[in-house]
Amino acid sequence: MKSLKSFKMNFRKKDPFHDGGRCGVRMKQLPFMGILCIGMVFVVYRTMIYQHHQTQIDARMDPFDISREIHLSSWQLRNLPRGIVQAASDLELRPLWSHGNSNSKKFQLDSSGAEVEYPTGRYLLAMPVGIKQKHNVHAIVQKFLPENFTIMLFHYDGKLDGWNDLAWSAHALHVVAHNQTKWWFAKRFLHPNIVSLYDYIFLWDEDLGVRNFHPGRYLRIVRSAGLEISQPALHPNSTEIHHRITIRARTKKFHRRVWDMRGSTKCTNSSRGPPCTGFVEGMAPVFSRSAWFCTWHLLQNDLVHGWGMDIKLGYCAQGDRTKKVGVVDSEYIFHMGIQTLGGGDHSGKKASSSEEHSNKNSKHGSSFDVRMEIRRQSTRELEIFKERWNKAVEEDKNWFDPFTMDSVVVGDDHERRRLKHRHKVRA
Ligand SMILES: *[C@@H]1O[C@H](CO)[C@@H](O)[C@H](O)[C@H]1NC(C)=O
Ligand SMILES: *[C@@H]1O[C@H](CO)[C@@H](O)[C@H](O)[C@H]1NC(C)=O
Ligand SMILES: *[C@@H]1O[C@H](CO)[C@@H](O)[C@H](O)[C@H]1NC(C)=O
Ligand SMILES: *[C@@H]1O[C@H](CO)[C@@H](O)[C@H](O)[C@H]1NC(C)=O
Repeated sequence: MKSLKSFKMNFRKKDPFHDGGRCGVRMKQLPFMGILCIGMVFVVYRTMIYQHHQTQIDARMDPFDISREIHLSSWQLRNLPRGIVQAASDLELRPLWSHGNSNSKKFQLDSSGAEVEYPTGRYLLAMPVGIKQKHNVHAIVQKFLPENFTIMLFHYDGKLDGWNDLAWSAHALHVVAHNQTKWWFAKRFLHPNIVSLYDYIFLWDEDLGVRNFHPGRYLRIVRSAGLEISQPALHPNSTEIHHRITIRARTKKFHRRVWDMRGSTKCTNSSRGPPCTGFVEGMAPVFSRSAWFCTWHLLQNDLVHGWGMDIKLGYCAQGDRTKKVGVVDSEYIFHMGIQTLGGGDHSGKKASSSEEHSNKNSKHGSSFDVRMEIRRQSTRELEIFKERWNKAVEEDKNWFDPFTMDSVVVGDDHERRRLKHRHKVRA
C-alpha cells in the first residue's frame, strides 16, 4: 500500500515536469506563458526540496544535483554535453539482457525467484558480517528481503564461500576486506552518490535479534514522525546497553528523549542534546538519504572505529536534532553484544593467544587481548576526532553551533569515563 502511494506521488511529481517541458516549447512563442511556467516549475522545485525523502533519481531535483552542478562546472567534464553526465549510481544488480522496453525498470527477485519490478521506495541494509554470525544474519536478511531491501554484506573475516548455500546470497552484494570495521566499509562503499537511490539506509551490526522487528512498520513510523536518524529501541534484556535513551519504552511507538534524574545522569525537559535527546547509538542506526549524505562526510577516512561519531550525529539530522532523531519502541531489537570485529563501538574479539603476541604485549600479562587493543585504539581515535572537530570549529569562522543550548550529562557507570572524554569536545 505504502509503495503504491509513493508510486502515485512520484507520478504526480513527474507531471509538472512533463508540463514544464511542453511549456518550454510554448515559451518561445508566448513570453507571458513562459514566465508563468518558470514560476510554476520553481514552486514545484521548492516543494521537491522539502520532499527530499522521495526518490527521484533521474529528475533534476535529485539531492545530488548540487554535486552534479559542481561537476558540471568543473574543468574535467568540460567536453561532455550536460545531459550525458550521471553523477549518481546505485547498488542494484542488473540483468545482462532484458525483454522489451525496460529502460527505467529495476529488477529484484522475490522469494520464489521470480523477477519483479522494483517499487519506488527502495532501501538498503548494509551489515558487516562474519561467518560465525551466519545464522543470525540469515534471520535478519529474511525479515528485510520481502520489504524490498537491497542487501549488502561486508565480510570482515574473508569467509565468503560459507554463505553460498543461502538462496538470497547470490542476490546480495558482498564486499570482502579482512579485519575492517563497519565504518571503514561504509566510508568506502556507501558513498552518497552511489546510494542516493535508497530512501533509508540501515547500517547495522550483525548481532541483533529481530524477532520483534518489522522493517516495513519501522519505516512507516520513521516516515510519519519525520525521523532523519533513528534506531530501533533495545529490549531491556539486551546486553551492553550504554544509554538509557536506547531502551525500549513499552507503551510508546517511538521516543525522542529520555527523562532520568538518577545518579549522575540528569535528563530533564530542558536537556537539549545527547545522551538525553537527539541521540542514537552506533549498533543499529538508520539514516534518511539526506542524513546519510551528511554522515558520510562526517566519517573520517582513517578513524575506522567511529568513536565520538554518535555524539555528533545530531549535526546531520537536517534540522533540530531533538525532533529529527528518535528511537522506535514498537519495533525493537535485542542487542546480543557478541564480540565481533565488524561492529563499531563495542567491537573487538578475542584472539587465540600466541607466543608472538604475548611477547609483544607484556603489559597485558600472558594473553594478547585483541579486544583490549581495539578498545585502546578506539580511545586514541576518539581523541583525534575531538581534536579535529575542535580545530575545524576554530578555523571555520562562518560556522556557528546550531545546538548551543546543549546540556550534556553523563550516563551509565561503565560508560562514564568514555563519555567524559567525549563530552570534553563540547566544552
Ligand atoms: C515490494 O515490491 C513489490 C513489487 O513492486 C510490491 O508488490 C510490494 O508491495 C513491495 N513490498 C513492500 C513492503 O513495499
Ligand atoms: C585479522 O585478525 C585476526 C585476529 O586478530 C588475525 O589472526 C588475522 O591474521 C588478521 N587477518 C589479516 C588478513 O590481517
Ligand atoms: C528478560 O529477562 C527476564 C529476567 O531475566 C526474564 O524473566 C524474561 O523472560 C526475559 N525476557 C525476554 C523477552 O527474554
Ligand atoms: C516535561 O514535559 C512534559 C511534556 O511537556 C510534561 O508533562 C512534564 O510535566 C514536564 N516535566 C517537568 C519536570 O517539567
